[in-house]
Amino acid sequence: MGKFTQQELDEVNKTLSTPEDCLKWAFDNLHPKLAKASSFGAEDAAIIDMMFKINSDSRLFTLETGRLPKETFDAIEQVEQRYNTKIEKLYPDPNEVEKMIEEKGLNCFYDSIENRKLCCGIRKVHPMNKMLATLDGWITGLRNDQNQNRSGASMLEIDEMHGNIVKVNPLVNWTFDETWDYVKSNNCPYNKLLDQGYPSIGCEPCTRPIKIGEDIRAGRWWWENDTNKECGLHMNHDN
Ligand code: ADX
Ligand code: SF4
Repeated sequence: MGKFTQQELDEVNKTLSTPEDCLKWAFDNLHPKLAKASSFGAEDAAIIDMMFKINSDSRLFTLETGRLPKETFDAIEQVEQRYNTKIEKLYPDPNEVEKMIEEKGLNCFYDSIENRKLCCGIRKVHPMNKMLATLDGWITGLRNDQNQNRSGASMLEIDEMHGNIVKVNPLVNWTFDETWDYVKSNNCPYNKLLDQGYPSIGCEPCTRPIKIGEDIRAGRWWWENDTNKECGLHMNHDN
């Protein structure tokens, strides 16, 4: 049983208006067993900045999948310097990675959705699950307009997939443009791929830039046709 019920969080949600309100509630009620999952996209850049303005002991972690782009590593180092913090890096189990590569190949995710989900499971979902088992709450950069699966998310919700801890989504009501305006006007360190047509950034082999008019997540696992693509970290809004 987690610390809160969804009913309790629904009541709190009614009292929150800004992302900062949401973060303050999270710090007051969940810190220090509270951490921000960061992949260093625009949403994460904005939230990280808000967090350190509220609490200089903010905790950040990232899934170091082994396949991240160089620009993401640059962003990790810039964030560590700017906020004088150490980001916790979570690594996949090397035995699981080795077995997958030996049996299926280095770039097996292109071959089938099953292989892609296997790879996301090993490199992202399993290390995330281990981390979340140690927390009372985690902070994400989810926004409602990212895809249909995320359209039902609210600022504070019970994460049933992860032991009923609190999932904190401060930017859930913001658009990409509002997020980007915050990043620019607060001079936040950000992933330089955002300047090169990548509004959503994941692993290097599975992310490409989008063309004008394309969906914001069209560059993620671009060879798959599904419009509601997820790696498995955020599946509880599945319709
Ligand atoms: S994903 O599930 O499709 O990869 P997305 O890139 O939209 O997620 O990012 C949404 C949120 O998921 C991020 O703001 C972050 O909180 C979390 N997240 C995604 N990828 C990672 C990662 N590699 N490490 C830590 N958190 C991540
Ligand atoms: Fe593997 Fe691609 Fe998923 Fe990264 S995004 S874990 S490389 S399938």
